[in-house]
This record gives sequence, C-alpha cells and structure tokens, in this order.
Amino acid sequence: MEKLTQETVNFTEKNIDRIAALFPSAITETKDVDGKLKRVVNFDQLKQLLSGEVVDGDECYEFTWVGKKQSIIEGNRPIRKTLRPCKEESKNWDTTENLYIEGDNLDVLKLLQNSYLNKVKMIYIDPPYNTGNDFIYRDNFKVSKEDYEEELGLFDEEENRLFKNTETNGRYHSDWCSMMYPRLQLARNLLTDDGVIFISIDDNEVHNLRKICDEVFGEENFVAQIVWQKKYAATNDSKGFSTTHDYIIVYQKSEQFQRNLLPRTEDQNKPYKNNDNDGRGLWRADNILVKTYSSTAVYPIVNPNTGKEYYPPKGSSWRANKETMEKWIFENRIFFGKDGNGAPQLKRYLNEVQQGRVPITWWTYEDAGHNDSANREVGVLFESKTPFDTPKPVKLLKLILQISTNDFDNSIILDFFSGSATTAHAVMQLNAEDGGNRKFIMVQLPEETDPKSEANKAGYKNICEIGKERIRRAGKKIEEELKEKSKEGELFKDEERKTLDTGFRVLKMDSTNMKDVYYSPSQYNQQMLLDLESNIKDDRTDIDLLYGVLLDWGVPLSLPHITEKIGGKNVHFVNDTDLVACFEEQVSEEVIREIARRKPLRVVFRDSSFRNSPDKINVTEIFKTLSPETTIKVI
Ligand SMILES: C[S@@+](CC[C@H](N)C(=O)[O-])C[C@H]1O[C@@H](n2cnc3c(N)ncnc32)[C@H](O)[C@@H]1O
Repeated sequence: MEKLTQETVNFTEKNIDRIAALFPSAITETKDVDGKLKRVVNFDQLKQLLSGEVVDGDECYEFTWVGKKQSIIEGNRPIRKTLRPCKEESKNWDTTENLYIEGDNLDVLKLLQNSYLNKVKMIYIDPPYNTGNDFIYRDNFKVSKEDYEEELGLFDEEENRLFKNTETNGRYHSDWCSMMYPRLQLARNLLTDDGVIFISIDDNEVHNLRKICDEVFGEENFVAQIVWQKKYAATNDSKGFSTTHDYIIVYQKSEQFQRNLLPRTEDQNKPYKNNDNDGRGLWRADNILVKTYSSTAVYPIVNPNTGKEYYPPKGSSWRANKETMEKWIFENRIFFGKDGNGAPQLKRYLNEVQQGRVPITWWTYEDAGHNDSANREVGVLFESKTPFDTPKPVKLLKLILQISTNDFDNSIILDFFSGSATTAHAVMQLNAEDGGNRKFIMVQLPEETDPKSEANKAGYKNICEIGKERIRRAGKKIEEELKEKSKEGELFKDEERKTLDTGFRVLKMDSTNMKDVYYSPSQYNQQMLLDLESNIKDDRTDIDLLYGVLLDWGVPLSLPHITEKIGGKNVHFVNDTDLVACFEEQVSEEVIREIARRKPLRVVFRDSSFRNSPDKINVTEIFKTLSPETTIKVI
C-alpha cells in the first residue's frame, strides 16, 4: 500500500527524470553528504550534446542576475506544508467552487501543483511593481542582526521574511527577479494548454519581466504587451514626465490559446444603415478600388442604368478580377449610388463582417477603467474610504476575462497576488452578466495592514480580511442586482442556470499535518516513541487531513464532500466516490467492507489504524475482491 508523502513534488528529481529520458548520457552519479549515490546532470556533457560546435567558453545569450540559480532551487525545493480549511470564514462552503487561499504564494503554488496541474485557463497577477516602496517576500531569506536593522523591513512570525526593496539595496532588481522567477515557473505548470497569463507591471520592471517570461513561457508564446491608460489626467507636479499608463503583458501556454473577439461597438455598427429588404440585412457602401496595380483586375465596369463605363484610376485596380466582379453584379452586391447613376461601390454586409472586435493593445480608461475608478469601486463597497491602496478596476479584469475565457466552459481563474480580490469581483460580475460559470482561486499573503491605516482602524488586521470581505460585499451586491434584473425579465441567455456562485472556501497555509519524524534513532526517548504512535499532529481535524490528502493526491479542492457514519466511524466521501477517507484509529473489517462495496476510485486510511487493529485486517485483499479498481493509500 503506497504511503502519501504529504510533501510537495520534488521538481529537481522530476526535471532530472525528464532530462534522462531525452539525454541518458548526460546523467551521471555522485555521492551525497551521507555517502549515498545520487543521480545528477553532467552539464558539460549536456551542453556538448546540444551544440554542433565544440563547447569551450560559457558565453551565451541569457538573462541572469545575482541569485538566479538559488531562486530556481527555491522553486524546486519540496515543502512540508498543507492548506487547512476554515469553514467559519468561508461562504456557502458546501456548494461553492471558488477558493480563497491565505499564504505565501510560492508555497501555495507548490501545494497546488498536483490538484491544479494543467487546469487553470487564465492567470492574472498584479505583483509588487518594485517601485522602491514595495515589500517583497524574500524566500528562504536569512539576515544578520545588522542587516535586519538596516533594511528596516517587515518581518513575519518567523522573523525572516518581508523586506522593503529600496534602490539603496544593491540587489534591487535581482531580488525582484528572484521573487518572480520561481513563482512564474510554478504558475506555468498550472495553465491548461490553451491557457494564458496576464501580468500587470510598470516601467520599473517591465523589461526584466519580459525577459523572465521569455525564458519561462518561451519567446514564441509572447502574445501582447498592452498599454493601459491608468490615469485620465497628468500629474502636473511630476518631475519628468507624468506616467499615465501601466503595461499588461500577455503570454500563452502554447499556440493552442485562442483569444476571443470583443463585442462590436455601436460606433462600429453605425455605418451599416442600408437595407435592400432581401433577407441579407444591413450593409454599407465600401470602396471597390485597391491602390495596387494588378493587370487581371483592370477592366471596364458598366453602369446598367446609364451605360457609362468606369475604369480604375492609373496605378490602382478593382478589388476583384472580372469573373468575380460579374458574379457580384449578378448578386446585386454592386451599388451605383443612391440614384443609381453613379460610380460602382461594394456593398459590405454587417452579417458578413467579423462578428466582434479584435482586441487591440491600447486600452483607454473608457474601455478598462482607471485607478480612481478602482478606488471608488472599493470605497463604495466598504461605505468609506477604500481600505486598500492599489486596487485595479473591475472593468479592466472583465476585459481580460472576456478576451481569455468563455461563458460556456467552466474555466478556473487564478490570481496569486490578489490584494483586494478585484479578480474575484470581476469573475462574479461577468458570470452574472453572461451566465458563465467561471470559478476563481485567490491567493493572498496575510500581510498585516499598517496600524495607522483606515483599514486597520476599521478592523481589517491583514489584507486577506479585506479581500474576503470584498468578495462577500461584491457578491451580495451582484446578487441583488441580478434579482432586480430577473424581475425585469432580463436574466441570463440560458434561463435554466439561475444560480450564481458568490461563495468561497477559505484555506489557510500551515505546517504539514504529519508529525516530524526525522530524528536520528539516538535522539528518541520513551515519550517521543509514545507520541509518535500517531504520526498526525494532535491539533489536526479529520477535515484538515482530508484536504491534505486532496492536495497530495491531486484532487481539486473545490469538490463537494459529505461525512457519513459507517459502523460508528466517520467516513468522508469526496464528490460521491471520487475519494473516500476514514481517519479513525481503529477501523473494523465491516467498515472496510462497506467502503469497498461503494466502489470508490480512491480510498485512504490512517496507517496506524491497521498497526493497532487487533485482527490486522487485510485491506488489500478485501478491495481486490469487492472493488479491484480502487487505489488504496495510507497517511
Ligand atoms: C498590487 S497588489 C494587488 C492588487 C490587486 N490586483 C487588486 O486589485 O486589489 C499586490 C498584492 O500581492 C500581495 N503579495 C505580495 N507578495 C506576496 C506573496 N509572496 N504571496 C502572496 N501575496 C503577496 C500583497 O500583499 C498585495 O496585496
């Protein structure tokens, strides 16, 4: 029976496997600190395998910075952490498919690798821009007391994390790059093959971010660098130029990504006002000339009403050759002016032009909102001054969602720098408007609010509290607006689907559910041996364990689950029988048999429950007979 490790994937090992599959001769062995043999990559050999020339120097085209290698190691390093459900702070726990996850996003992204691998359609992030005032989360960061005092940073309960990245810090850009690189690598794994990431950024780091993304996603997967007009007026006391825009850079996971067209505007449709009442609908008169010369497209067109012959002016041609033109005349697609006596023009029918607008890379504040409107939106919801400094407008996020997701698929949207949760707000809003069923995953560090801030005074001690309250308030408002609309009979296109998911499950990052068993034998004493009889920490509930197993086994965290009493024991059913779990200390054979009769896809028990069981039930044999398809694991 396989034991669940309760550890995230060791990506270094996985990456070595991948290289070994492609280039077996580039794999060699070395001894680790304990003298045990381990596989490693022979990089000189690998370099040579990838080059047609003799490799001697190490000059090549690459983007690097101080600490890049360490940041890759950090991204690949497994962690012994878990996500613990918090029902009290959630909304509609049993029915919602949205998630709100509290924790450092590097750890959270690692924890989500199994359950959400290739499952996320769109990622939007709005990371710290590195303006010199941002607090950056430096991973595995150890500082001396002197540095501690010098950096004047913010520190979490482990006293070693958040610090202010100022330009006087010699590693100003490097630290930011090291923060972003492993997160983007982990995020990429979560995207579906037709998925896409949108990243907000400004002049401070846009050039570095482009280079990092070229490396992580592949240069060929660059889609666009959008300029968003975040301010509608100049700041007149700016020292140099007044910056009125941000960038949003877009990378696809692969060429399978397809952007949607945006709905056509009224202005675009306005010129189509003629109608021949022949069933072909509205049309406008379009130029029938092109400004290039083609010998097959120069011939006379005769106006049938006047008999007058028309030729294209010198150097230009008609839009089509003679044969096509005759077909167009026969189909009544050529227009000779209102009175029928003029020069030829082409009728362009509205239902034949592209039924939407190709998104462009210049987003005005009219299209996508601006910083002030974003502040106002949050302010209105909180009936006060906005409790969050840097929200993005809902309109901006709606535009991104319209381009990258559809109302007909159940796309998962991830934002792992979620701040005030604008992305969640926009997902609910757009679902309410188009009847879609998009689901969100918000990730946010429980970064404390400034004690002097409005937010702190209003009782929001950390940013997660602001984000969750925003989703509650926005959800309530959207539901009320929806009720109003339904009264006026303007509900969704699909009248069948009248429910809107405004709930969310809160999950908080914590240390692993398992007791630390990595002591050397000489370190054990009698009490420790007794304690270790259960390998699970005392403060962890069944539901904590259940979510630990979901993460480990790669089952989505949004699935419905119920608890049933079988033979007096608690048995948890996730999405009916996708996964069945029983973490009781002593499980009788009858309970095991009943679980097996339900034919679950996966089943998990507590390892120690069998060690303690007087009759040493042969679980594997029972399942082999009653439900051979079930995969069995223990924790
Ligand atoms: C610019 S704000 C995002 C604002 C958001 N787009 C909105 O509309 O409200 C960046 C957020 O990322 C959070 N953050 C920074 N480092 C983080 C980390 N390592 N893990 C999770 N969140 C982090 C910050 O606390 C901040 O709330």
